[in-house]
Amino acid sequence: IDELLSEGVAGKRVFVRADLNVPLDGTTITDDGRIRAVVPTVKALADAGARVIVASHLGRPKGAPDPAFSLAPAAARLGELLGSEVAFAEDTVGTSAESTVAGLADGSVAVIENLRFNAGETSKDDAERAAFADKLAGLADVYVGDGFGAVHRGHASVFDLPKRLPHYAGYLIATEVGVLKKLTDDVQRPYVVALGGAKVSDKLAVIDQLLDKADRLLIGGGMAYTFLKAKGYEVGISLLQEDQIPVVQEYMERAEKNGVELVLPVDVLVSTEFPDLKTKAPAHPTTVAADAIPADQEGLDIGPETRKLYASKLADAATVFWNGPMGVFEHPDYAEGTKAVAQALVDAPGFTVVGGGDSAAAVRTLGFDEKAFGHISTGGGASLEYLEGKTLPGLAALED
Ligand code: 3PG
Repeated sequence: IDELLSEGVAGKRVFVRADLNVPLDGTTITDDGRIRAVVPTVKALADAGARVIVASHLGRPKGAPDPAFSLAPAAARLGELLGSEVAFAEDTVGTSAESTVAGLADGSVAVIENLRFNAGETSKDDAERAAFADKLAGLADVYVGDGFGAVHRGHASVFDLPKRLPHYAGYLIATEVGVLKKLTDDVQRPYVVALGGAKVSDKLAVIDQLLDKADRLLIGGGMAYTFLKAKGYEVGISLLQEDQIPVVQEYMERAEKNGVELVLPVDVLVSTEFPDLKTKAPAHPTTVAADAIPADQEGLDIGPETRKLYASKLADAATVFWNGPMGVFEHPDYAEGTKAVAQALVDAPGFTVVGGGDSAAAVRTLGFDEKAFGHISTGGGASLEYLEGKTLPGLAALED
């Protein structure tokens, strides 16, 4: 983007593909991290006199307008953060977008409505995506990719559109890639990775890579129960992906062979029922050893001994990557495990990276100071796929 700025952008229509996919409670944004992350790029362009068109997806609407997924709240928040008025187009490539863009003065900003209100955005049909990308290209003179959270998607605005316009990477993408490179190219050791979240299947590819890279892997969250089961423990009614047990067993063997310490919970908090996340009514969990989960109970957080164990495994880390909460942190009775891991990152001497999605939201909603971490990625799936060594369509299109 510095190259673009030095060439001069005054009067040019610049399409910024951001990731404003923020969590919403109705129309209230519960974590605005992704909006804040794109402000430097938008501000630099506007300050240089560009006519900035910000576009993003939000949620997974079904290729047609759906008010529940409108970007209007995100546009309003962007205006607050920029301290200037942000116009909002009620469609993406229709008359509202056209007239909003035509009405943009130099140095001003507009947000167009959710890209996924158009079937062409996510279509697997190349021609359908191309047709939508052609329409988007008609709105702008230049493309800036800055939606790091979406670079793993081969969607029209991420992959097809940059091919149609002069294209540049924004500040956020440059920062994110710079940080993640540190974890793949020349990592400082000990390199400790904490992985949580509900599904082990989402993390298998990254674990596969990390078994050749990391020194220690700490496992928590819902995915831990498939590991515990693979170890031969009974897990009651905890989350379990039975079909993944053989893969997990193979990973456990490889970890041993490669000298990677694969650390599993030694105790967990259990209950007969999932907590009420709306009322947050007290859940009264009990603590049991990881090999003694009662048949009618489910594990919902790591226990106090595991918290201490994981903190000790992070205490000398030179590099940490953490993705996925350790328990149902949205409920106060099951937030301690996630808090303990976040605190251990804060206390770790080395460079710490929080990998997007739920863990990024967790550190903010649990009251941690973002500056206490080396980097909080805006990409959940994107940062994982980067670490898996995959080619990410949105980055490939910009490098092209
Ligand atoms: C994310 O939240 O990880 C990104 O915004 C991508 O969203 P998606 O998984 O719906 O494509």
